[in-house]
Amino acid sequence: MKITETIEQVRQLVKAVRVQNKRIGFVPTMGALHIGHISLIETAVKQCGFVVVSIFVNPTQFSPSEDFDKYPRPVEKDLEICEKNGVDIVFKPDVQELYRSGNLTWVTVEKLTDSLCGRFRPDHFRGVATVCAKLFNIVGPDKAYFGQKDAQQAIVIKQMVADLNMPLEIVVCPTVRQPNGLAVSSRNKYLTEEQKKAAALIYKSLQRCQQMIEAGITNSSQILTEMHNILEEPGTIEIEYISVVDAENLQELKKITGKILVAVAVKIGSARLIDNILVDTGKQ
Ligand code: PAJ
Repeated sequence: MKITETIEQVRQLVKAVRVQNKRIGFVPTMGALHIGHISLIETAVKQCGFVVVSIFVNPTQFSPSEDFDKYPRPVEKDLEICEKNGVDIVFKPDVQELYRSGNLTWVTVEKLTDSLCGRFRPDHFRGVATVCAKLFNIVGPDKAYFGQKDAQQAIVIKQMVADLNMPLEIVVCPTVRQPNGLAVSSRNKYLTEEQKKAAALIYKSLQRCQQMIEAGITNSSQILTEMHNILEEPGTIEIEYISVVDAENLQELKKITGKILVAVAVKIGSARLIDNILVDTGKQ
């Protein structure tokens, strides 16, 4: 496994592999790797002859009040995980390397970033789309792997790739959960044992929502009330949003029909946690 901090070296290494006709897989991450990231790496290794992982805590997707400085950076452990899981290159640039030009060019994906997390994290998706565009341009992958856990992010990136005619495929992999249902996240580290128990209610509320839809309930507000009740029960969860949206355009739905995304964002202690489920009602 090669570890590099420079754009030039990644380009050289990937160029040498491309002439061997190998498919290049790419997994962008912010490090603090866990089994969710590993599942993306495993899928990339299965589908591609050569896999690049980037580790970069991207400052432009954090607002000044967010946890950029505090974000965990266990570099040695991350490198070990990559090595063990068959990664060929780890690209871990510093901020200067990626933003050395003092960036005046930003990628903004409209509409899809107005709802859900976009409402509460202004400029977050501009930072994500910009850094992903840069990384795609640097690595030049055939396929890039994203998690369903960050559903809006995956949809925004797919739209960017289509709109800007970027020559790669976006592969979305299922959310990896702990046995109690809590979606695995680097930010779970901020939770106490008690808070982890409360956090398990996020998935419980999503499962309840799924049951209600399967029972034929199509009124979103009835479902949202039930989910609010579940999440408010312990008194320690601050709900940012619970939304039922169209799975493609992310517009709020009053009546449940077609393919929908039910997404939740909460704060527990200092951690902001998100989760979602996709439900296909089979109806138009
Ligand atoms: P990060 O939070 O490190 O996540 C990297 C990738 O891992 C994302 O595609 C995310 O959806 C996926 N992931 C995280 N937890 C997961 C889980 N429990 N199950 C499945 N996949 C999971 O997302 C980012 O970094 C950044 O925004 C990035 C795309 C790297 C741009 O800076």
